[in-house]
Amino acid sequence: MDVACLEDVGRKLVFEAGDGTVFITTRPSDVPTYVEAGAADLGIVGRDVIEERRPDVYELLDLAFGGCRMVYATKSGTDPTPGAIARLGVVRVATKYPGCAMAHFTATGRQAEVVKVNGSVELAPLVGLAHGIVDLVATGNTLRANGLVEREPLFESSARLIANRASHKLRAEEIDALTARLAAAVEAAA
Ligand code: PRP
Repeated sequence: MDVACLEDVGRKLVFEAGDGTVFITTRPSDVPTYVEAGAADLGIVGRDVIEERRPDVYELLDLAFGGCRMVYATKSGTDPTPGAIARLGVVRVATKYPGCAMAHFTATGRQAEVVKVNGSVELAPLVGLAHGIVDLVATGNTLRANGLVEREPLFESSARLIANRASHKLRAEEIDALTARLAAAVEAAA
């Protein structure tokens, strides 16, 4: 597969390789939408987006890059969570991932009021918008720089190869071959 067309992406969104493969780029959170609808046969997207969106697609392969983890974090010092639950019956959580946050607190038998923000989530507990945050952590630098600490892990995330369900049947041979080549590359890089 010739990927030279991806070398200079600029503002373009669609790239055609010489062999007929068409690549598209989009925001990570939109990747499952394109694949689910069959506008793309395959997609590459983080597990974080899959957990949040729960799209009706096949997850074919862990591509083992873009590693990070989804965590619940609060200000350092005493964890404010038990106190909030005891006092208010609910903990207020800011996040870009309301589905993941709600699932975590529901699964652990605690009521959460989820405040959806679109970025710089770490600000929320510093100014009293929330008791804690659910967010991705990679190096931990952003948490440390803002005096926050991890309290509870949710899950590990990395890039995943996903497929449209119909495409997976109709183009099984091509998709299986590509998946096998990617799996071999992942193995070789491990
Ligand atoms: C992500 C995430 C954290 C940060 C974690 O934010 O939401 O803020 O990276 O990385 P670290 O542990 O290596 O510091 P992103 O850079 O996507 O920006 P955003 O908060 O504006 O969405």
